[in-house]
Amino acid sequence: MKRFFVCVALAAVLAAVPAFAKKTYVNGIDPNYPPFAYVDEKTGQPAGFDVDSMTWIAKHMGFEVTHKPLAWDGIIPALLAKQIDMVDSGMSITPERAKMVQFSEPYWTVSRVFVVPADSKLTPKDILSQKIKLGVQRGTSEANAIKKEQEAKGYPFELRFYDSAPLAVEDLLNGRIQAALMDELPADDAIAHGRAVKKAGTHGVPDQFGVAMRKDDKELHKLVNEGYKKLMADPYWKELQKKYLNK
Ligand code: ARG
Repeated sequence: MKRFFVCVALAAVLAAVPAFAKKTYVNGIDPNYPPFAYVDEKTGQPAGFDVDSMTWIAKHMGFEVTHKPLAWDGIIPALLAKQIDMVDSGMSITPERAKMVQFSEPYWTVSRVFVVPADSKLTPKDILSQKIKLGVQRGTSEANAIKKEQEAKGYPFELRFYDSAPLAVEDLLNGRIQAALMDELPADDAIAHGRAVKKAGTHGVPDQFGVAMRKDDKELHKLVNEGYKKLMADPYWKELQKKYLNK
């Protein structure tokens, strides 16, 4: 018994010494991007495919992680300002972002889709050739891509910007916009949760998701890449896909 207490006391002392304490990294997440990252309504806790992935990786790579909900549009500035250390939250690897941050190896690929009300007849061709209102999430790769494409090709739609994909879905349902462009999984998530919308078709090339980190954070970069490799070789990776992505 006495030995037990000595051990506990020793562990407590060691944990308080910086060299022995586990490092804590903060993962910035979009609170409203199911199924990759969100704040669970019932528990009030961060959840999702990416949140659980990084929690597992931290546990198996010997660091602590906390998940901090932030506005998506300001998430890279928050990373550069060291309010957070990484973004594992359905972030597409893009050349524009790669100028500011470094990405992990890609861990997931998603298509971009047009979402319309369930009773809509709009096709992707209609969406690109009519004077409709098209919703996108502010600060996303798809918002930037479609804006550029519109400038180059002169599409007649009017772009409307939202703080989250679910907010765009709400405006689709109340008729403020006629279509929205988003990643396929959030669209599937809205449909699975009984929102009366459907996918009208895919658009553009698929995106690859990666974890964003500051360029000088070599240590974390290594932990994250090795951690994902480990996770992908573990049965838990399939479990997560089943739980969150219906795969
Ligand atoms: N894939 C798009 C992007 O990287 C949309 C991501 C939105 N993800 C999120 N967690 N809000 O910009």
